[in-house]
Amino acid sequence: MSDRLLAPPRSAPFRRSALVGGALISLAALTVYAQGDAPPAPKGLPPVKHPKDNPPSAAKIELGKQLYFDPRLSRDNTVSCATCHDPEKGYSNNDQFATGVGGKKGGRNSPTVINTAYQKLQFWDGRAGTLEEQALGPIQNPIEMNLTLPEAVEKLTAIPGYKKQFQDVFGTDVTSDGIAKAIAAFERTILSGDAPYDRFKAGDKDALSEAAQRGMKLFFGKAHCSACHTGPNFTDDGFHNIGVGMDSKEPDLGRVSISKLAGDKGAFKTPTLREIAKTAPYMHDGSQKTLEEVVEHYAKGGVKNDTLDEEIYELKLNAEEKKDLILFLKEGLSSSSYPLVKAPELPK
Ligand code: HEC
Ligand code: HEC
Repeated sequence: MSDRLLAPPRSAPFRRSALVGGALISLAALTVYAQGDAPPAPKGLPPVKHPKDNPPSAAKIELGKQLYFDPRLSRDNTVSCATCHDPEKGYSNNDQFATGVGGKKGGRNSPTVINTAYQKLQFWDGRAGTLEEQALGPIQNPIEMNLTLPEAVEKLTAIPGYKKQFQDVFGTDVTSDGIAKAIAAFERTILSGDAPYDRFKAGDKDALSEAAQRGMKLFFGKAHCSACHTGPNFTDDGFHNIGVGMDSKEPDLGRVSISKLAGDKGAFKTPTLREIAKTAPYMHDGSQKTLEEVVEHYAKGGVKNDTLDEEIYELKLNAEEKKDLILFLKEGLSSSSYPLVKAPELPK
């Protein structure tokens, strides 16, 4: 219902800015790929697709940013999305397991929010589809922010600055649907591209050092990384068992609990590698502290188990090659236009 009411006020700003931006796209295309006031994707990345029922606007993105940084979305007002997905820490948080309200810890490492706009499925096991669907999960999760949706709506409604913004953006009071849409619209602006790798690919032969170029050749060749870390976002959007944590007593079985396919035992989503230098520790269980450890893991062929992906096998890499490969990850995939967002002033 709210969508029908809202269509006219929302379409105006994005049509205007599309024209201002000089984009030559038909109005029909606009309804699917409405760019609105969202910033254009950096070089090397495709345009972001915004869902038809959640076109971006500057006001909506700003509201989403405030919600993202607001600890009042947690039961004890201590934890916000940014606690675990901190812009200063690669939109992850450098802890093995993120700590939620009351000091509670889960069993998985916080993935980065960078470029999640491009992901078909969210979470290590892909249990959420859209970012809208994902956003309400942590608010309700007892070990993350621990509020019921009615409680979250009630808390925000009591803050006049939010009440007004929801009216302006959605033409409604605070709703959980609006919370999810605003946060997702903000997340779709957290993009990292235009890295040395992209500039090198576009023809700037000085963008990567010689050693990083050797590392890039290994990445796409002998080291076989691009079998899964492929495309502009360095992921195939697939799930693979690369043998992480499979030797522990009660391994996290990952994707199989969602897909129920036996072959998915121990499989996790292939993560992006953009800004990978900033998001240690690594893997779904945060068990690998450095990129050196990650490369050792792949070099030895992971940890053997009965559903290990067939693309994981012993790589015969010498010390020099390992160094070059790591350098490519660090130097090649870190952008000088890293999307550092500062915490906004929160509404009263
Ligand atoms: C207490 C720490 C914590 C808080 C708070 C938190 N997250 Fe997360 N987030 C995680 C962890 C851990 C995962 C991975 C969980 C899994 O895969 O099972 C995750 C996953 C995600 C993902 C999926 C990323 C991917 O690559 O699959 C997104 C997007 C995300 N969170 C956004 C948010 C937003 C938005 C908020 C605030 C509403 C939030 N998170 C609050 C820890 C947190
Ligand atoms: C068979 C597919 C596959 C191949 C081949 C592969 N990866 Fe991965 N990669 C994954 C998956 C899946 C994960 C997450 C696994 C987990 O957490 O259990 C991952 C995780 C990572 C991570 C950690 C990312 C993070 O945010 O925690 C890095 C770094 C990485 N891979 C680099 C590489 C490099 C370098 C190579 C080549 C030597 C490579 N990968 C080869 C699928 C693959």
